[in-house]
Parts: sequence; structure tokens; C-alpha cells
Amino acid sequence: KRPAGAPDKSLARDVKKVGVVGAGLMAGQLALLFVRRLEVPVVITDIDQDRIDKGVEYIHGEIDKLALKGRLSPDATNRLKALVSGSLDKAAFADADFVIEAVFEEMTVKQKVFAELEQHVAAETILATNTSSLSITEMASQLRHPERVVGFHFFNPVAVLPLLEIVRGGATDDAALATAFGVGKKLKKSCVLVKDAPAFVVNRLLTRFMGEIIAAIDEGTPFDVADRALTPLGLPMSPLVLLQLVGPAVAQHVNETMHAAYPERYGLSENLQRFVDAGKTAVWDADGKIDPEVDALWQPG
Ligand code: 3HC
Repeated sequence: KRPAGAPDKSLARDVKKVGVVGAGLMAGQLALLFVRRLEVPVVITDIDQDRIDKGVEYIHGEIDKLALKGRLSPDATNRLKALVSGSLDKAAFADADFVIEAVFEEMTVKQKVFAELEQHVAAETILATNTSSLSITEMASQLRHPERVVGFHFFNPVAVLPLLEIVRGGATDDAALATAFGVGKKLKKSCVLVKDAPAFVVNRLLTRFMGEIIAAIDEGTPFDVADRALTPLGLPMSPLVLLQLVGPAVAQHVNETMHAAYPERYGLSENLQRFVDAGKTAVWDADGKIDPEVDALWQPG
């Protein structure tokens, strides 16, 4: 059955090569999923060769782990690894049919990535973005072909969580959207079409939820009490562990987008900002204790 609002699948284009811009945590997981499910060449890029090499190494390592779990035959392991490559030169994206970006969560950075890609790829190549919160319409607005831009928003861990939010921007055409749904189906995700609104649907809720836990801590509730109070609700992970998984810097960017759009509903935490500025990524250490440096940074308001 066609997902609600999805265009006719006969409009979908074949995807024979994928490009991934970014070689970080999210981008690496995306590249792995694409190569596993589509079995087509996947090329990754980033701002320097070292990041690209680490990205390829991560993907190869994850393929090896799947082989060790008995999920890939030795043949499939070698085939998938050979399909993954890295290139500093965006010319390697020239024959890609579908390129997804998962770079820093900032509009100007993402617009620059798309503008540069447009110099190299064909006019009908889909440009997808894994943005957590930013406007697809605005991201596409300076392109010669904004009709090929779609939001393609995954959830961490990408291999495990089934949902994929597909976002139609103001200029996105039916062929781009149909191709996005076709790819989403091959990736075995549950695709939903969502409106191009700040943080789409899921992050709108998640940001509000996390914001309230952080506000409770800002107001003086100890970390462990605020974080563990929700355990009996049966959540798969506690809010602050989820914050670690998503990355506090990404979470803070989403907070800023939501605060700018709906200041009365989404607050900003100075404590969280201090935590991000200090380069901290974890509240809890490996033994389940609060990092004392984080505790010292957080000042009850
Ligand atoms: N990366 C890759 N795979 C992972 C993983 C990770 N970080 N964590 C767990 N897995 C895999 C395991 O390898 C295992 O796979 P297998 O069955 O093939 O061996 C499987 O997941 C289950 O692992 P576990 O039994 O160890 O773990 P749990 O049952 O405790 O589940 C979880 C782990 C799926 C991460 C679960 O805790 C969960 O769903 N947490 C909530 C995550 C969430 O809400 N994510 C959304 C964040 S918002 C977002 O990403 C959007 C962005 O825009 C901000």
C-alpha cells in the first residue's frame, strides 16, 4: 500500500549510485544502511581525507561485525566492502542518482553543500537532507533545481529504528518524492510524509519532552532524579542517555530552531549551552556515575 500522500511510484527513478556528504556518526550509519539495502556503489565525502578514511573504516568495520554475527556471507561481506569508497573530490558524485547530506546542523552549511553538489551532479539527481529540524524549502531556495530536494530524516540508531520522515519542500516535485519513497522502501523503513515545518513531527515532540527534563534540572532537580524518574514509564532509554546518543550539540541546534519558531513553547537552557560549549557529550560515565565536571558546570537557576 502506498503511504499517505506519496506520489505514484511509477514516477520513481532508479538509484544506481549513492553519495553521502559527511563521514561522521549519522553519515556513517546512513552509508552503511544504503550499501546494505541497495547494494549499489556508495561514495562518501567530508572536509578532509582523514575524516573520509575514518568514515570508510567505520563502515567496513560495521560490515565485518555483521559478518561475525552470521548476517553476511563472506562473498556478500567482500562485495559490500568493495562498493564503499571515499573521495575528497565531489567529482566522484557526478554519476550519483541520490545524494544525502548529514553535515553540521546549520542552514548556511547545508545550503553551501547543496550549491557545491549542484556543480557536479546531473539536473535530476536527488539531493536529500537528513536535517533534524531545518526548512527543506529554505535549504533548496538558492539552487538551480530546487525541485530535486527532499527531506530524508532518520533516527539514531539508523540500523535499528524503523521510522523515516520524508519531507516535501515547497518546490519538491513528484518524481523526487516518488524516488525518495522508493529508496525508503528498499531501505526497509516505515516511511511517512511529513510537512516542512520546524523539526517535522518526531523532533517537535522529542524537543519538548527533553526540554522539560532539562528545565527540571535547571530548576535544581538533581540529574539522577530527573533522568531516572521516568524509568518506570518503560522508555527504551532515559532522557539524558538519549541526549548522549543524539549528541548535545545537535540537540541544542534543534532547540534553537524550535525556540526561534515557537518561543512560547520551547525554551533554551543556558546550562545545556555551557555543556555544549565545554565540548561535553556525556552526562553519565561508563560506570553510571555523573561526570563531576558536568555536575560542576550545571548551575541551578
Ligand atoms: N548503533 C547501532 N546498533 C545499535 C545501537 C547503536 N547505537 N544500539 C543498539 N544497537 C543494536 C544492537 O546491536 C542490537 O542489534 P542486533 O539485534 O542486530 O544484535 C539491537 O540494536 C538491540 O540492541 P540491545 O538489545 O543492546 O539494546 P536495546 O534493546 O536496549 O535497544 C535501542 C537499544 C534501540 C538504542 C533502544 O534503547 C532505543 O530505541 N532507544 C531510543 C532511541 C531513540 O529514541 N532514538 C531517536 C533519537 S532522535 C533522532 O535520532 C533524530 C535526530 O534528528 C535528533
